[in-house]
Amino acid sequence: MSRLSATGIVTGYGRQEIVHGVSLTADSGAVTCVFGPNGSGKSTLLKAIAGALPAWQGTVDLDGRNIGNLPVHAVAREGLVMMPQGGGVFPRLTVIDNLKMGGYVISDRRRMDRRIDALLEEYPSLKRRTNVAAGSLSGGEQMMLALARALMPEPRFILLDEPSAGLSPALVSETLERIRALSAQDIGVVMVEQNIREALPIADRLYILAAGEERFAGTPDDVRDDAQLMDIYMGQEQATDAARPESSGL
Ligand SMILES: Nc1ncnc2c1ncn2[C@@H]1O[C@H](COP(=O)(O)OP(=O)(O)OP(=O)(O)O)[C@@H](O)[C@H]1O
Ligand SMILES: [Mg+2]
Repeated sequence: MSRLSATGIVTGYGRQEIVHGVSLTADSGAVTCVFGPNGSGKSTLLKAIAGALPAWQGTVDLDGRNIGNLPVHAVAREGLVMMPQGGGVFPRLTVIDNLKMGGYVISDRRRMDRRIDALLEEYPSLKRRTNVAAGSLSGGEQMMLALARALMPEPRFILLDEPSAGLSPALVSETLERIRALSAQDIGVVMVEQNIREALPIADRLYILAAGEERFAGTPDDVRDDAQLMDIYMGQEQATDAARPESSGL
């Protein structure tokens, strides 16, 4: 089993501190969800963990190796990748070329081709459109391409920033099922989501951020009901010690 531990992450933009010392632990084969209101620092936290934004303080540890403040490509080589908010596919590049971009850390050409073939088998809607510009795909297909692109280097951990955003209800379910399936393949998933109701059933662990601070850390079982979750979410209830993974032995 692999474990990703971010501890005491402080970061921001320019001089503005946005994330004020947040810690998060995620295991391979599990889905760890990060919820929180708009602007609470969820994307900023993911970027700091993935090396896309320098952490001002704190450490990021992957199976005991310190990957904090390594550049994105070095973090990807260590087995951790991020799918940014909105997917971030290159709209003018074809589906195939987007996948190749995702595999830029793969130096062996045959391995690159094998990964592309394997992902096209897993994502048949992409296989039918390999030479189409990504920008002309539907929103759902672009999200699938973004996911497939992130999976190119066979990561141990994948950070997903709002993978279901803007999708129809049917596609939200399909996307979350695919994400659950990734964890069944022993990949560790860390997922920021606004669709809490849909995401909670596939979550093994959850964190709630508000105003750049951790409000809650626990398992879905620690949450009594939706009403309590919304109270925590809106800042009307603080995390209890019993709900913190450190004290519950997780
Ligand atoms: N590139 C940037 N430069 C300066 N400030 C930024 C930048 N990106 C985000 N911020 C600010 O940082 C704060 C947190 O933003 P962040 O995107 O991390 O929030 P979020 O929880 O992901 O929100 P959302 O749910 O809307 O995606 C916000 O106040 C935002 O305006
Ligand atoms: Mg965000």
